[in-house]
Amino acid sequence: MRHTANAPLLALRSRALFGTVRVPGDKSISHRALMLGALASGRTHIRGLLQGEDVLNTGRALAAMGCPVRPVEDAWEVLGRGVGGLAAPAGPLDFGNSGTGVRLMMGVVAGNDILVRMVGDASLSRRPMGRVLDPLVRMGAEVVDGARTLPLSLRGTGDLLPITYELPVASAQIKSAILLAGLHAAGETSVIEPEATRDHTERMLGYFGGRVNIGLRDGKRLVTVLGNAELEGRSIEVPGDPSSAAFLAAAALMVPGSDIRIEAVLVNPTRTGFYKTLREMGADIAFHNEREQGGEPVADISVRHSPLKGVRVPPERAPSMIDEYPILACLAAYATGETYMAGLAELKVKESDRLAATLAGLKANGVRAGAQGDCLCVDGGSGVPGGGMVETHLDHRIAMAFLTLGLAADRPVSVDDTGMIATSFPEFRGLMQGLGATFATPEDVRR
Ligand code: S3P
Repeated sequence: MRHTANAPLLALRSRALFGTVRVPGDKSISHRALMLGALASGRTHIRGLLQGEDVLNTGRALAAMGCPVRPVEDAWEVLGRGVGGLAAPAGPLDFGNSGTGVRLMMGVVAGNDILVRMVGDASLSRRPMGRVLDPLVRMGAEVVDGARTLPLSLRGTGDLLPITYELPVASAQIKSAILLAGLHAAGETSVIEPEATRDHTERMLGYFGGRVNIGLRDGKRLVTVLGNAELEGRSIEVPGDPSSAAFLAAAALMVPGSDIRIEAVLVNPTRTGFYKTLREMGADIAFHNEREQGGEPVADISVRHSPLKGVRVPPERAPSMIDEYPILACLAAYATGETYMAGLAELKVKESDRLAATLAGLKANGVRAGAQGDCLCVDGGSGVPGGGMVETHLDHRIAMAFLTLGLAADRPVSVDDTGMIATSFPEFRGLMQGLGATFATPEDVRR
């Protein structure tokens, strides 16, 4: 589905937020569950799959390559074709807004003797693909008709070579694409990570019966997968997305008197940098009932409104909270003193240049903030005047971060478009309103 008409929305100063909620399934795990289900033999049964546009596009792409993906009762089912068993799709695969979808799928396609045309929306078509294509080309895949951005066509091969590759940037998407391709190669494929990134691919590969080894090389994490793999279809329950839960947690911290609980959230340590930072800011936040679900740690998270203080977020924390900087920057506007975030270079190549979009949105709403190089600084604590219009640049997280900012601002905060929220968190508005948040369309305001 293509996003066309803009859907602007305003966030208004709200009463205290209360309640217990669940957020939809984790986006990263949902993509991987579909792809590994397709690479396995037999049936994979997925409960809690995120039904956001990004993940649905991944499902459609797999179906177009001969792996039916369909809803069954309260779950989704994938019929796998085994490693190397994908069929050539009849037309181009459209990944919409999703970097994870297209980059991981490049790894999946690389090991099949097929030619696949890949396209995306305006945001995705601007994002760098060379970082994934370079290692895949070294393994034997070929880029035809295109170069380092979408649209492009990728020709896979049944004779993929194993490689050892040190990641030039800390990116779970690059790591995962190589590991997924490595399943098809003859021998061991290894990825060396400068800094640990989200490890869902490694965990889930083990769960599906793949042979994965985690070690160290020169003090860096080394992940090795054995090729010619035979995976078995499995049952998976996808935990709640901590990156979606972050907006609810931030809203409760901003709005005086709030007290909420978010159940069954993924708390994998490679994803919880935001929550660690909240604790350092003095937030009243706790993990309860910690347990394991489908090979991943899960907890219920309680959050109560608390006075916050600014902190320095070290650059090495970036991989564990890369998607949470826009909402952290908005929250920092309500904390006393300065919040300094370093090591944000990767933010510039997300669904939008999130560093620039976050800074512009804060300034438009009267928050004192500055950016230099790959650092962002927010000077908070003197109230958020609001009243500004935020440009979202086809970026769901920019839209949600600023709608959250507006819930405690003096005047409403407007975002120019909410359509992209459906890529990752279609229930955002309804869940927030259920807790007590107030949003209005421009028509509501004129009435
Ligand atoms: C993701 C990895 C991150 C993240 C994205 C999801 C994944 O991107 O920003 O939303 O599922 O692997 P990078 O790995 O490129 O940093």
